[in-house]
Amino acid sequence: MPALLDRMQNELNALHSRGRFRSLIGTNERCGTQIEYGNELLLNLSSNDYLGIGSRHDLFQNFLERYSNYPDHYNLTSSSSRLLTGNSQLYALLESKLAHLYKRQAALVFNSGYHANTGILPALTNRHDLVLSDKLNHASIIDGSRIADATFKRYRHLDYQHLETLLKQTRENISRSSSSANRFSAWTEIWPT
Ligand SMILES: Cc1ncc(COP(=O)(O)O)c(C=O)c1O
Repeated sequence: MPALLDRMQNELNALHSRGRFRSLIGTNERCGTQIEYGNELLLNLSSNDYLGIGSRHDLFQNFLERYSNYPDHYNLTSSSSRLLTGNSQLYALLESKLAHLYKRQAALVFNSGYHANTGILPALTNRHDLVLSDKLNHASIIDGSRIADATFKRYRHLDYQHLETLLKQTRENISRSSSSANRFSAWTEIWPT
């Protein structure tokens, strides 16, 4: 398949020439808000481990101790999707605790924010819906909206007149509209004080 390989090589070259080629960065120790890169300790502004829980060795130790007490309850893989045979009772326990904590009827745990957005948006919308999303919404909201059957449009960042225009243009054909929440974690904004 040389044509395919050629195309892929051209795309890689184009990414290089635009300075958009990405590669994985090797990092060392991570501790709360700090990360070791090379020999330097840097402030980590690109993590979502806001509370530093991911590097709490005491929590990890605690998990391992519990694991050794109840090896039958913890497996190294769920072995299949939760709808098949991968639904550990621990999920049910966690979800009922979360529902109780947040005073909701029920809770559903996703592996990550990415999975939540790509799972929820197609589940809540159908082809009669319109999803309007800020251009700088997290990439997972964009992916989730693309997977969904709904009509999907993006308005310019924080431009609510553009949002209104899109809404007026599209709403006649749509029975339900939903506008996605704005969170721009992939983008840093500095506002004048
Ligand atoms: C709004 C929003 N959605 C999704 C994500 C992705 O979350 P995860 O890294 O858990 O996939 C983030 C991450 O910061 C986010 O801010």
